[in-house]
Amino acid sequence: MPVITEIADLKRLYRRRVPKMFYDYCESGSWTEQTFRENCSDFSKLYLRQRVAMDMTGRSTKSRMIGQDVAMPVALAPVGMTGMQHADGEILAARAAARFGVPYCLSTMSICSIEDVAENTDKPFWMQVYTLKDDDYMKRLFDRAKAAKCSAAVITVDLQILGQRHKDLKNGLSAPPKLTPKSVANMMTKVPWGLEMLQTKRRFFGNIVGHAKGVNDPSSLTTWTAQSFDQALDWDRIREFRRMWDGPLIIKGIIDPRDALEACNVGADAIVVSNHGGRQLDGALSSIRALAPIMDAVGDRIEVHLDSGVRSGQDVLKAVAMGAKGCWIGRAYIYGLGAMGEAGVTRALEVIHKELDTSMALCGRTQLDTVDRDILMIPKGFSGDWED
Ligand SMILES: Cc1cc2nc3c(=O)[nH]c(=O)nc-3n(C[C@H](O)[C@H](O)[C@H](O)COP(=O)(O)O)c2cc1C
Repeated sequence: MPVITEIADLKRLYRRRVPKMFYDYCESGSWTEQTFRENCSDFSKLYLRQRVAMDMTGRSTKSRMIGQDVAMPVALAPVGMTGMQHADGEILAARAAARFGVPYCLSTMSICSIEDVAENTDKPFWMQVYTLKDDDYMKRLFDRAKAAKCSAAVITVDLQILGQRHKDLKNGLSAPPKLTPKSVANMMTKVPWGLEMLQTKRRFFGNIVGHAKGVNDPSSLTTWTAQSFDQALDWDRIREFRRMWDGPLIIKGIIDPRDALEACNVGADAIVVSNHGGRQLDGALSSIRALAPIMDAVGDRIEVHLDSGVRSGQDVLKAVAMGAKGCWIGRAYIYGLGAMGEAGVTRALEVIHKELDTSMALCGRTQLDTVDRDILMIPKGFSGDWED
């Protein structure tokens, strides 16, 4: 067993184990990948203030996200095709999250279906929904989430249209993978991944095939996806979704203060400041830079979470210090899952937890609710000094 001390260790193992097509799917941003890169690099522009000789005993990273107790304020973000990174990936990630005491959010575009994840785990999870035109499908999706006892719905609002990722087009990304000479040659070097995949029946989009009208086999899925994402989405439509779901609601994919205010008006319980991990609008601001203006705009009207670029407990601490109630991680746990399955997701959470706990202590704080902007040195103009 290799010694894993940081998320980058898991990424190295993940790269070796998973076919290139799925590694590239995860490890890319749209177009020039500027936003994808800056999501991470902007965190390192914020400095932490070290304090000494302050009693650091009795520490806790426990917190709450949308009223739910969490072992640390970190949720596993919805990631499409997680079940292609490792056989039964969604179930394994949900189990690791439940054991660790953090929320897991299942993607609409998952391989394991809502029902399958619910049957194979013992704690409620959150359900992410894309905003599709098909009203029947949407109502059924919310009903299915309710029947599966999901404890929150997450509406992703930043994907009415798909940002282009060059590698996915070049690799001919699909689930299950298309067998071309190139993809077969690559898969032959990933034997453990392939053997596990052969042993599972979960290889298609479980929430769509057999659920969406006219999608009974994977080949009709591409046409359905292209036709179904709703380019006409507006806040009135989001209000309709609010009426379809009476539980806790989170709106994911906000990067502008004006949109954050709109989200407050539809009766959401939380927003996620996110640019989809740099996969949508290339050239958009990193999430950590976008956070402060959004916090200033919404005040305490709504709970604010952040994702995109979080790779360490220090990143979580910085986001919390800037006012986020919690962070979501995407790639950080996918690296773990691809590297080592459920144990790898657990390891990713342990790494982040230790970093968060130790860094909080070195900043002279013992409880997360006392962490504020005082522990940070924020460069002038960090959140932008823009022309009107
Ligand atoms: C491979 C991949 C697939 C994703 N699929 C979805 C999805 O189906 N639904 C969604 O709301 N967000 C999706 N996201 C975005 C994540 O939920 C999250 O916003 C992003 O990963 C955060 O950035 P990070 O990976 O830098 O932590 C996906 C991200 C990745 C990397």
